[in-house]
Amino acid sequence: MLAFRMKIDVLTIFPEFFGAVFDFGIIRRAKLAGIVEINIYDLRSFTTDKHRKTDDTPFGGGDGMVLKCEPIFNAIEQIIGTCERENYPKKTRVVLLSPQGKPLKQAVAREFADEANHIVLICGRYEGIDERVNDALITDEISIGDYVLSGGEPAAIVVADAIVRLLPNALGSETSAVNDSFTGNLLDYPHYTQPRDFRGIEVPEILLSGNHAEIEKWRQAKALEKTRLNRKDLLNEI
Ligand code: ADE
Repeated sequence: MLAFRMKIDVLTIFPEFFGAVFDFGIIRRAKLAGIVEINIYDLRSFTTDKHRKTDDTPFGGGDGMVLKCEPIFNAIEQIIGTCERENYPKKTRVVLLSPQGKPLKQAVAREFADEANHIVLICGRYEGIDERVNDALITDEISIGDYVLSGGEPAAIVVADAIVRLLPNALGSETSAVNDSFTGNLLDYPHYTQPRDFRGIEVPEILLSGNHAEIEKWRQAKALEKTRLNRKDLLNEI
């Protein structure tokens, strides 16, 4: 039997949303290689009422609907075996995707990849989620950026992708995460491939020189230049 390095379970009211998103490229390869198992769960299947309601109006009034506790508690109980956070297995994380969460950074993805072997991603919806879910079940609340999506589903895809590609052996030997943007708080340097001359636009001479020390210096300088231009904030973190 395959021993998966990581299991990712996604809890959503829109299971079809995930269609084939995890069936391409690095994630597909990681699944086939037994590095990760990804399951999509329909929150509605954990309801117990006749109307299979996953949301309801907010206490205290206000717009929109709030995701109910019960289906989420039922789901966690079934998926993890307990809905008492202190009894979760040590390497299990239950993540709520929401704009109120901690920002997703490369270091956060790295921490999950290194320290977890089971991640449950709960996709928030509507105006929010009953706070008792957050209080009792959630180990990490994550936002993918300072903007509001209509639901946590795209964010769950982003988080899963960022983590899976960091799992040991997920990237082929031809690639590596070592030089990724944000590793060391710099953006990536520019890349070029064939042809050398494309419509009169030439590849920088230095890259053709074969001088690896000089190429490395050029790449560092370019990475710094790009970071200064687009993400000055990162330079304060070095
Ligand atoms: N749900 C809605 N907006 C979100 C965001 N920015 N990050 C994560 N989940 C979200």
